[in-house]
Amino acid sequence: KHVFVVLKHILNTIYFLLFCVYSRMVTEMEMQKKSNARDNVSQAYPIANPDACRNSDLFLLTLVFSSPANITQRDAVRKTWANQTLIQGFPVRILFFLGSTQTSAAQEGLIRESDHYGDMVQERTVLALRWIITFCPVARFVLLTMDSVFVNLPAIGGYLLGLHRHPEDLYLGRVIQRDSPDRDPNSQGYLPPVLYPDKYLPEYCDGTAYVLSQDVVRKVYIASATVRAPVKADVFVGFCAQKAGVAPTHSARFSGEKHIHYNACCYRYLFSSAGMGSHELETVWADLGHRDGRCSLTCRLLFKDS
Ligand SMILES: *[C@@H]1O[C@H](CO)[C@@H](O)[C@H](O)[C@H]1NC(C)=O
Ligand SMILES: *[C@@H]1O[C@H](CO)[C@@H](O)[C@H](O)[C@H]1NC(C)=O
Ligand SMILES: *[C@@H]1O[C@H](CO)[C@@H](O)[C@H](O)[C@H]1NC(C)=O
Repeated sequence: KHVFVVLKHILNTIYFLLFCVYSRMVTEMEMQKKSNARDNVSQAYPIANPDACRNSDLFLLTLVFSSPANITQRDAVRKTWANQTLIQGFPVRILFFLGSTQTSAAQEGLIRESDHYGDMVQERTVLALRWIITFCPVARFVLLTMDSVFVNLPAIGGYLLGLHRHPEDLYLGRVIQRDSPDRDPNSQGYLPPVLYPDKYLPEYCDGTAYVLSQDVVRKVYIASATVRAPVKADVFVGFCAQKAGVAPTHSARFSGEKHIHYNACCYRYLFSSAGMGSHELETVWADLGHRDGRCSLTCRLLFKDS
C-alpha cells in the first residue's frame, strides 16, 4: 500500500513536469506565431526593412517607387528633396520602394498569373500598402511618388498640418476626371467592356504623387482584394478608393507630368512636379535654397491656396 502511494506521487510529479513542459512549449509557440506574422510579411519583400518606422511618431511617410537599376536617380533624390527629417518639427521619413521582377510568383496568391501586366502593377501597389499597414501603422499620412518626381515636402507638410479636420479620409492629389478606359484589345491595359462597361474610369489621383491618410491606406488595401482590373497603378487605387467609398480631393499644386515652365518661384508653391531627371532635381533643389523673394504674383495666385 505504501509503495502504491509513493508510486502515485511519482506519477503525479511526472504528469506535472510534463504539463509544465507542454505549457511552456505552447507559450513559446504563441510568441513565435506573433513574431512570425511580421516575419511572414517580411518574406514577401527581398529587402523588407521592417524597422524603418519603429519608435517614431511619424507625421508623413513617403514611399518613392524606383526601378532597381536606377541608382543615379535615387541618389539624386537622396541628395535633394529627400534629405530632410522634420517638417515644422514633425518627423518625416522617405523610403524607396523597389519594384522588381523577381518578386512576382512567390508573393502569395494575391494575383493570378493570367493578367500579367495588370498584376505586376497591382502587386507593387498592393505590396506597398501592405508594407505600410504592417510596418508603418504610426504614420499619419503616406505620400506615394516616383524617383522621377520633384516633391516639395515642406509645402505638402504645411498643407497637411493646416487641415482643420482629423487626418482621416484623405486621398489627395491631381485628380484625373473623365479618363476613358483603354478599349484597344491589343493593348496590355485593355479593359474589356464586359469587365467595366462604364464610359469613364472612376476619378483617381495621378500616380506621380498623391497622399493617403493611414485609414485610407487600410481601406484601399482591403478593397484591393476584390478589384481585378488590368489597369495602371494609379487607376487601380482609384478603383479601390471608389469601392471603399473614399472620394479623391484635387489640388492643382500637384502638377503631374505637364509641369509648368521652370520657374524657381512657382516651385515653392508646387507640391510636386513629374518627369525630372537627376540634374533637374539638383537644379530645383539648389534654387529652392536661395530665397530671393521675387516671386511673380501669378505663381502665388495659381498655387497658394488651391
Ligand atoms: C506564414 O505563411 C504561411 C504560408 O505562407 C502560412 O501557412 C502560415 O500560417 C503563416 N504564419 C503566420 C503566423 O501568419
Ligand atoms: C543633407 O544635407 C546636409 C546639410 O543640410 C548635408 O550636410 C548632407 O551632406 C546632405 N546629405 C546628402 C546625402 O546629400
Ligand atoms: C532612371 O530614371 C530616369 C528619370 O526618370 C530615366 O530617364 C532613366 O531612363 C532611368 N534609367 C533606368 C536605368 O531605369
